[in-house]
Amino acid sequence: MANEYGAKVTTVWTTRAETSQDLAAIRSVTEAAFPTPDEAGIVDALRADPTAWIPGLSHVCEDEDGQVAGHAVLSRCTVDGSPALVLGPCSVTPAAQRQGAGTAVIRAVLDAARATGERLVVVLGHPNYYPRFGFVRASLLGIRTSFEVPDEALMALDLQAERAEQRAPLPQGVISYPPAFGV
Ligand SMILES: CC(C)(COP(=O)(O)OP(=O)(O)OC[C@H]1O[C@@H](n2cnc3c(N)ncnc32)[C@H](O)[C@@H]1OP(=O)(O)O)[C@@H](O)C(=O)NCCC(=O)NCCS
Repeated sequence: MANEYGAKVTTVWTTRAETSQDLAAIRSVTEAAFPTPDEAGIVDALRADPTAWIPGLSHVCEDEDGQVAGHAVLSRCTVDGSPALVLGPCSVTPAAQRQGAGTAVIRAVLDAARATGERLVVVLGHPNYYPRFGFVRASLLGIRTSFEVPDEALMALDLQAERAEQRAPLPQGVISYPPAFGV
């Protein structure tokens, strides 16, 4: 974003866990970010599913005026039957895209999951975007979907990588998604 003199202005994003006050804003950010309302429906369906939804693992970012500009959610999936997390849908309102909001809110929700001891996160998304958070190609870790996806689009992150040698190996096998994703 540029100011009235054409200088680049960097927005400071504030991130926090969602509250019940945020639901309408999250819906409108998600609807604005995606071409169809399907992803907004996925977020609502995840929130309505106590086996998938984990309180504290849905975060928003606000601009300096307190407007919600971005959202990221982690929900429960399994890999070969072991608990893991799936990231997404992730949304930033179009006017705020490419200004760091997505990076801020995704970092925040991953940090929250790391702090609770969660280990493994999977994401299906753009292979140029998610490596900045530490995601690597899931196939390198032996993790796959039950449906066809481009190999580079399925990525996985070991949240406890710094202490990986003290931990059990990551689960390998097929991801079982929450029903909200319809896959
Ligand atoms: C993807 C999304 C969440 C990223 O948030 P953002 O705030 O725009 O991204 P940031 O400002 O944190 O990061 C910008 C970087 O992301 C990259 N980027 C943004 N959107 C991208 C996209 N759709 N595909 C690939 N790269 C993308 C930019 O190239 C930029 O890279 P750089 O920093 O190396 O220049 C946001 O653009 C969005 O809501 N897009 C539409 C919905 C979507 O596709 N969601 C992801 C699938 S779940």
